Amino acid sequence: MPNLTDSPLRYGIVSRWLHWGMAALFAAQFLSAAAHWALPRENALRELLWGYHPSLGAALFLLVLLRGVWGLANIQRRPAHVGKLGRAAIAGHMAIYALMVIVPAVRILAVAGSKGGASFFGITVFPAREAEIAWMRAPAAWHGEMGWILALLVLGHIAMAVFWHHLVRRDDTLKRMAR
Ligand code: HEM
Ligand code: HEM
Repeated sequence: MPNLTDSPLRYGIVSRWLHWGMAALFAAQFLSAAAHWALPRENALRELLWGYHPSLGAALFLLVLLRGVWGLANIQRRPAHVGKLGRAAIAGHMAIYALMVIVPAVRILAVAGSKGGASFFGITVFPAREAEIAWMRAPAAWHGEMGWILALLVLGHIAMAVFWHHLVRRDDTLKRMAR
């Protein structure tokens, strides 16, 4: 019987699928952002990669809400984080969660308050409106910067998991999320 829920020894199937599935989707999302930042306008690769950015971002927003609810439902039986480094790991994970919510949320709020409205995956979610709503659009001014901060936190997170835990300390941290 597969372990759907988490246990003190390892993350369960649902948490692992959410973690690795979303990691792959975030890689695609950062790739589109990097192409948007680095490549010249009207470059075919930039347009291709940018084409999915808003819809994938909206999907990631829904997935992180689901993951947060699942994480809270499992919080008592998740692997423990002890000591100073453990508390630092929890703080790091919290910061990643906060940005995984805020980064797409500010952009979704902005399109909800825009004149043009918005469609995700071809479905109109916010219809066009007569006048834009300034307060809904303002926080999106920091969307890109916050997105890059999230990317840096994720790079630090990967370095801690792979280099520090797996290669230097040789503990079970990576294994409890991996298998
Ligand atoms: C977790 C999800 C998301 C991440 C990690 C993310 C990340 C980023 C990053 C790093 C940039 C800066 C690119 C540059 O420097 O040229 C950016 C730009 C942009 N993103 Fe996202 N994004 C996400 C979701 C969304 C969503 C849901 C939308 C639309 C509803 C969106 C629309 C845009 C737009 C229009 C820009 C260009 C203008 C700007 O920099 O604010 N993004 N995104
Ligand atoms: C190669 C890429 C990655 C590796 C090797 C990796 C590794 C890990 C490991 C080993 C854990 C368990 C840590 C513990 O129990 O203390 C973990 C948890 C976590 N990771 Fe990653 N990770 C990767 C990518 C990502 C990405 C892209 C994100 C978010 C954008 C992310 C966000 C999280 C979060 C929030 C947790 C806390 C547990 C949870 O609620 O899911 N990880 N990661």
